[in-house]
Amino acid sequence: MRISVIGCGYLGAVHAACMAELGHDVVGIDVDEHRVAELSAGRAPFFEPGLPDVLSRALATGRLRFTTDMAAAAEATVHFVAVGTPQTKGSFNADLTYVDAAVQGLLPYLGEGDLVVGKSTVPVGTAARLAGVVEGAGAGATLAWNPEFLREGFAVRDTVAPDRFVYGVPQGDAGERATAVLDEVYATALATGTPRIVTDYATAELVKVSANAFLATKISFINAMAEIAEATGADVTQLADAIGHDARIGRRFLNAGLGFGGGCLPKDIRAFRARADELGLADTLSFLGEVDAINLRRRERVVTLTRELVGDLEGATIGVLGLAFKPDSDDVRDSPALDVVKKLVEAGANVTAYDPEANETATRSLPSLVTAGSAADAVRGADAVLVLTEWREFRDLVPAEVKALVSRAVVVDGRNCLDADAWRAEGFVLRGLGRP
Ligand code: UDX
Repeated sequence: MRISVIGCGYLGAVHAACMAELGHDVVGIDVDEHRVAELSAGRAPFFEPGLPDVLSRALATGRLRFTTDMAAAAEATVHFVAVGTPQTKGSFNADLTYVDAAVQGLLPYLGEGDLVVGKSTVPVGTAARLAGVVEGAGAGATLAWNPEFLREGFAVRDTVAPDRFVYGVPQGDAGERATAVLDEVYATALATGTPRIVTDYATAELVKVSANAFLATKISFINAMAEIAEATGADVTQLADAIGHDARIGRRFLNAGLGFGGGCLPKDIRAFRARADELGLADTLSFLGEVDAINLRRRERVVTLTRELVGDLEGATIGVLGLAFKPDSDDVRDSPALDVVKKLVEAGANVTAYDPEANETATRSLPSLVTAGSAADAVRGADAVLVLTEWREFRDLVPAEVKALVSRAVVVDGRNCLDADAWRAEGFVLRGLGRP
């Protein structure tokens, strides 16, 4: 199929490359010239395992190209809208400027029978409104909403072999045609039995935000248990293991620690609440305010814990390991780790941080940040070492080697990812979150 992908960020760049890898002819369109140049040269503009390989393979077939020229969409019949919907400054609402601009920009290039496919995460009701815009343009094109569930760090795998497809389509013949087109786009994964749910626009939009709200709630639930554990001397990781054995609960996404961040979960639960407010259902989703609050309290807790361990933060030397919002990513959007660094610096600490991939993105976001080129350089002379992102490199640190570098043998394990016994055996004072 001939496909255009509007927006080549974390979602669109991966989608474009993977669709080409699957055999489609793809043009990725983005307003950012630098990003287009990088992608055209086979370089991923952000760290995502496997993406550079897929990019170079797909570019070599001649089936993939990138441009800043929206007119290139005229060659395609299926147009994916994969632009961002960040949190609006000063409110919880999703900013739909980019989605609206992408759809408007596409209109002159749509032909009879074309399918515009929304992949961005949007407030419920957006697709119905945009369907009016697409149909109103009179080209004979249809809109479908096909939310994306990919996780950073696993984006290629999640795009090529997702755990489900959701198609939000209009009723009647147009919906059947849209379904048939999407089935052809995703034929490879569907052939392996990937479940697909064909539904209306509103349900499709809600599937995405409710999935993220559920995941965020699960994380905040276990972090609330961590608060209780801290007050009672219990161990939240053992608690998670024990309740996780109940198949109805499940162990995944029950890792207590510094909590969730990134470009999706935080802004999506806020936008979902804001949308419920607009629908006159503020009470229905008010619990998401608690989910957010529990999550943000964990960041404070790491700062308090560090203060308890080193005494005064003013003038203390702190070695921070991890800046990205999660491992295998260089993304620092709403990163809990970076937030903790900011709070420590505000409290007067001298922080040196190291992340295997996110030093650069973090420095862009916080220009005063002091980064080191290695974990060893970050912890040298530290009064406390804080592990804030659970990269394998940090989980594999050898306590004796760290001990030889630090000023005081103090570790805060913000992700409960270290072997506490091994560190304590080496003489470290180690504190996790929700652990005795
Ligand atoms: C998320 C959703 O998982 C994905 O389906 C959606 O498409 C986009 O948003 P992502 O933002 O890549 O994906 O990260 P995810 O793996 O979900 O982790 C989110 C945050 O939660 C990270 O900061 C992570 O460290 C944290 N987390 C995750 C926990 O604190 N505990 C856990 O048990 C799991």
